[in-house]
Amino acid sequence: MEKIVSASILSADFLNLGSEIKRAEDAGCRYIHFDVMDGVFVPNISYGLPVLKAVAGAARSVLDVHLMITDPLKYVERFAEKGADIITVHLESESDTAGTIERIHSLGKKAGLAIKPKTPVSAAEKYIDMIDMLLVMTVEPGFGGQGFMPDMPAKIEEARKLIGGRAVPIEVDGGINGSTAELVKNAGADILVAGSYLFKAQDMPAAVKSLLY
Ligand code: DX5
Ligand code: ZN
Repeated sequence: MEKIVSASILSADFLNLGSEIKRAEDAGCRYIHFDVMDGVFVPNISYGLPVLKAVAGAARSVLDVHLMITDPLKYVERFAEKGADIITVHLESESDTAGTIERIHSLGKKAGLAIKPKTPVSAAEKYIDMIDMLLVMTVEPGFGGQGFMPDMPAKIEEARKLIGGRAVPIEVDGGINGSTAELVKNAGADILVAGSYLFKAQDMPAAVKSLLY
């Protein structure tokens, strides 16, 4: 499939979120990546429902919501109501994974499944026919601006093999820049999340192109 860049607004200027979203979209990002952290599942707190509602009102692109929270099943309905298009939950969360994916689908949204760097691809196997996207984390979730983990391309290749002919795109998240993008695309990634690389770039359209081509 055609490669997609998903702009993680965790690295945006929050006082100017509307113009930051427009800047990312004008630069060629087709998705806006919205990271929700609860301070329990990951050692950081980001933003949640009221901010998502405002972002949904401003964005023209696909809203790609990444829930790094302990009990996503409890909240997916509210994230759907506030305007998420794709809701991604972690396999390592405490919610029942299959039940959460079904709930996301019953809300009319796409369901993504995320795995942390230490979680093997094989753990996702039993959900592969249920999901609309597999998110392979390329850093430990919790913070923007971390370094890409060099052993992740091999894991992405393994995920690609597991997916086989199914229409399940692979998203990667963490430490993506002009050089790591090449590695993850060669390994089979389709959707590239990038935060600090894009929002700190002098020329965002050029940075997006460097991820795509
Ligand atoms: C990390 C988040 C990422 C983060 C990526 O837990 O899931 O989406 O914003 O940031 P960069 O691209 O700076 O590594
Ligand atoms: Zn993320």
